[in-house]
Amino acid sequence: MILVTGESGQLGNAFKELLPDALYPTEQEWDLTASDEIIPTLVGMEPEAIINCAAYTAVDRAEEQEDLANAINAVAVGLMARYAAERSIPFVTYSTDYVFPGTGAIPYLESSLTDPINAYGRSKRKGEILALEHPGSLVIRTSWLISGTNPNFVATMLRLARSRDSLQVVDDQVGCPTVAADLAAGTLRALDIGATGILHLTNQGPTTWYQLARQAVELAGGDAAVIAPCTTADYPVPTPRPAYSVLGSERVDPLGIDPLPAWRESLPAVVEQLVALGVA
Ligand SMILES: NC(=O)c1ccc[n+]([C@@H]2O[C@H](COP(=O)([O-])OP(=O)(O)OC[C@H]3O[C@@H](n4cnc5c(N)ncnc54)[C@H](OP(=O)(O)O)[C@@H]3O)[C@@H](O)[C@H]2O)c1
Repeated sequence: MILVTGESGQLGNAFKELLPDALYPTEQEWDLTASDEIIPTLVGMEPEAIINCAAYTAVDRAEEQEDLANAINAVAVGLMARYAAERSIPFVTYSTDYVFPGTGAIPYLESSLTDPINAYGRSKRKGEILALEHPGSLVIRTSWLISGTNPNFVATMLRLARSRDSLQVVDDQVGCPTVAADLAAGTLRALDIGATGILHLTNQGPTTWYQLARQAVELAGGDAAVIAPCTTADYPVPTPRPAYSVLGSERVDPLGIDPLPAWRESLPAVVEQLVALGVA
């Protein structure tokens, strides 16, 4: 049986469609902050593969809760990787564009130097290091995850565009939106061919949050004119974000993995699902 953590999250939900027979423990059933219980819990479950979609993803709160972020994003990841290595079962976990400083202007590759600029990014980088101590681990870095399950950036934009006369969205951060369903499918292809180490997987096509918001609202039949571009400086948040966080890959082609589609191709299905949920 395949074990998938983070069942209520965007990616966990995407796996439920692809792997309906996998085991999906809830956070109440298995709290990953209880590090002493991770190995005994896995021993009890006896999974034949582990797909770790659980994470501490609250970027702003992580500044005040770095220990908690580390427990979930690093310590738990290392223990799962160790369990998997000792039994020679596949283990995949996810990391983020936030391990990079975002000061570049060309896509970050798997071999690019990491230098996270916030607590969330640091915790994810620690998780990468602990996972990669075990050579069979696969660490997939992705970016700007979106999905047809609420909440996420697209759902928020659809809701706000419906209820407000004007909405400012940041237009000077560049990245690649990635649809959770595409990432889940790409993960299974990578596992099928036995990929290990770090792998960058995102949908194709850099954009900005402003462009993404407009495209989503247009697809939902809303009025994209209510959305105006602003700069990061105009929209202060407590935590710095990388300005340029496009992930490229030097491994996808050589490994024979099909690149994920363009985000513009995959966005309509996301919007359709959110509209069906009554978000817009
Ligand atoms: N979201 C993005 O833009 C983005 C970008 C790059 C990389 N990533 C990475 O991609 C992966 C999937 O992200 P996502 O967007 O699907 O995350 P998400 O929607 O925030 O879901 C995270 C999941 O982790 C669970 N979780 C949190 N704390 C836990 C704990 N102590 N014990 C057990 N489970 C716990 C959550 O459960 P509850 O809901 O019950 O708390 C939820 O099911 C993560 O590794 C994330 O870091 C995300």
